[in-house]
Amino acid sequence: MKRLAVLLSGRGSNFLAIHDACVSKALPAEIVCVISNKVDARGVEKARELGIPAFAFDHKQYPNRAAHEAEVIATLELHRPDFVILAGYMRLLSSAFVARFRHRITNIHPSLLPSFPGVDAQKQAVEYGVKIAGCTVHLVDESLDGGPILVQRTVPVLDGDTPDELAARILGEEHGAYVEAIRKLCGGFRVEGRRVVFLLEP
Ligand code: GRF
Repeated sequence: MKRLAVLLSGRGSNFLAIHDACVSKALPAEIVCVISNKVDARGVEKARELGIPAFAFDHKQYPNRAAHEAEVIATLELHRPDFVILAGYMRLLSSAFVARFRHRITNIHPSLLPSFPGVDAQKQAVEYGVKIAGCTVHLVDESLDGGPILVQRTVPVLDGDTPDELAARILGEEHGAYVEAIRKLCGGFRVEGRRVVFLLEP
């Protein structure tokens, strides 16, 4: 059983999808803690309802990024995760944080990276006029949304789509993509430059 720590800032639908996959044994893993930088995040509330240890550290209450991260890292170390799963966590991680959990931090981004990194990815995609969009699960490195790719899934962009409509279609693929990526990581992997090779490819 792999131990997962989930970091989130909002509604937590990816967290819940991963939790469901753990409960149904679709994933050989368990969520050992949820950490948020938002005290009112819906995801934290859900975690508490489910009896998962959940911690909210409001970054605005700390003198600087390092102090906030130190609290997050200390909590992670207490829970000994194999993987740190970013699921809508709206804070950049310092290079020290990334180095501490090298190749063990994952993120999901609502675009086909390397297109449209950063905020409002779905709006960027609509405005650019792409016909295919999607989501990317990737390992986190020091770059913004730029680490080695684990899984991507696509959706069409329809004429007249608003960013919200496209976001909803992409979210429909995110949950399965994230579960698939974690399942593959749990089976073992190695990183060769930008490429991730899974040892138990189904
Ligand atoms: C998702 O769209 C994800 O791609 C992005 O943040 C959003 C999180 O949604 N990184 P949720 O909190 O998992 O519902």
